[in-house]
Amino acid sequence: MADRKEAVLNRLAALNEAAISGGGAARHARQHAKGKMTARERIEAFVDTGSFVELDRLVTHRCNDFNMQNSKIPGDGVVTGYGTAGGQKVFVFAQDFTVFGGSLSETFALKICKVMDLALRSGAPVIGLNDSGGARIQEGVQSLAGYAEIFYRNVTASGVIPQISLIMGPCAGGAVYSPAITDFVIMVKKTSFMFITGPEVIRTVTHEEVTQEKLGGADTHAGTSGVAHFACDDEKQAVALARELLSYLPANNMDGAPVIPTDDPSDRKDKDLADLVPFDPMKPYDMTEVIGRVVDHGRFLQVHADWAKNILCGFARLGGRSVGVVANQPAVLAGCLDIDASVKAARFVRFCDAFQIPLVTFVDVPGFLPGTAQEYGGIIRHGAKLLYAFAEATVPKITVITRKAYGGAYDVMSSKHIRGDLNFAWPSAEIAVMGPEGAVKIIHRKAIAEAEDPVATKDAYVAEYTDLFANPFRAAELGYIDDVLAAEDTRPRLISALELLEGKRDQMPAKKHGNIPL
Ligand code: HXC
Repeated sequence: MADRKEAVLNRLAALNEAAISGGGAARHARQHAKGKMTARERIEAFVDTGSFVELDRLVTHRCNDFNMQNSKIPGDGVVTGYGTAGGQKVFVFAQDFTVFGGSLSETFALKICKVMDLALRSGAPVIGLNDSGGARIQEGVQSLAGYAEIFYRNVTASGVIPQISLIMGPCAGGAVYSPAITDFVIMVKKTSFMFITGPEVIRTVTHEEVTQEKLGGADTHAGTSGVAHFACDDEKQAVALARELLSYLPANNMDGAPVIPTDDPSDRKDKDLADLVPFDPMKPYDMTEVIGRVVDHGRFLQVHADWAKNILCGFARLGGRSVGVVANQPAVLAGCLDIDASVKAARFVRFCDAFQIPLVTFVDVPGFLPGTAQEYGGIIRHGAKLLYAFAEATVPKITVITRKAYGGAYDVMSSKHIRGDLNFAWPSAEIAVMGPEGAVKIIHRKAIAEAEDPVATKDAYVAEYTDLFANPFRAAELGYIDDVLAAEDTRPRLISALELLEGKRDQMPAKKHGNIPL
């Protein structure tokens, strides 16, 4: 009996050893030489020290083709389990490139599905650390089935638990669709890439020459395609970012976002805030400075910081509470809304709404970007997404108009009419159908053309229009904004508004789902 016990324990030790060794020392060294961590090192870097509990360490693949029955590695190329990150319960999977190139087999997929199911049942986020050669070629359709099982779970979990993907190596072909469905994609510069078809296929089909990095590297996806929300310099930065991101999020859609006590005073006023925003509507300024002066300790974690920079989206805290901030950025394209900005902000707003994170919106928008590129690209369809997202959001919605709120963009940017809860304007606000120059050219065109002194006549009309509309007072008279507040009071007023709205209950009519213009 003692012999049998010893044999079992020895066998277990050998299996554990084999699982931990993964693809072996040489492949681990190759991984390190590329500036990449191994799957286990990544998990250890991400979770709180000592908190990780592994599942399915001894699972092996079931493939008998291509002599695969003779090469089984316990764990089968993916490390799965749970732990905590910043004290918050999380489920994790890390693809191990040293084992069959991190390629996805049937059992590999089942392991990921198991942690996703557990995460959904227990209401905790799932974090995927991706580094894979894609479908395990030896397994054929079983691998494709495995992917689809994961995709299905990504969709089922969407809006219920946060899902974050870190791309730390290859992620190609249909494999990209799991990260694409998750809430946030974090890529690592130089060592990760994502594409549907690689440079070779592109060369054959379209005769275009493009490098892997240019086609699907972190900078491309964070700055051009918008596929990635964050591009990090290295893996350590990526896991640290994932931890910070999680700190703003609730564990699931029924839980409140964590409140982190702050020593930044709730009644802190900022005398310099008003001077940051020029009264001259033609002068740009940096809205990140405004946000930084208002939120706790100036920390604003921008999402999609390098894509559609004319709108800012990100997380911050006010009085310790997580908020989602959406803001026009007058320093880029004068803060106009365009296709990418609409799509970026719409998805962010829907994320915050799904996870009960209040929305704070700063408005300085001259309208939608004119041009054939925008019209042909479907700005009507895409702009409608942002309108739809703000309108359907039932979380607390607080809006501050710092300067321009013109035309349809006024309506879209969380206006009172689409159920903004508390809408404020600074004295510098201009709430109108359009700016004075444009308006006068339309409504007084004939009178200006026929005037003895067209320039003086136009100037007089502009002055009249400016006096009437280039201010917050008409909207305030109508109750479309709740108060004209001094810029310096913004932080205390936002914090008290959030406290007021903490128990907000609002619902859209029961329906299977709406039909957002995708
Ligand atoms: C099985 C794979 C594999 C795969 C890599 N390997 N990809 N094994 N299935 N898909 C193995 C290699 O044989 C090798 O094993 C080890 O992983 C490392 O691969 P290398 O090529 O040496 O590494 P590297 O030079 O860094 O190149 C990485 C790579 C390349 C760019 C990912 O391996 C590659 O192009 N692989 C194939 C990618 C692919 O076409 N996948 C299928 C895509 S279609 P050894 O034993 O030598 O270490 C797809 C569909 C998904 O994924 C559909 C979802 C719906």
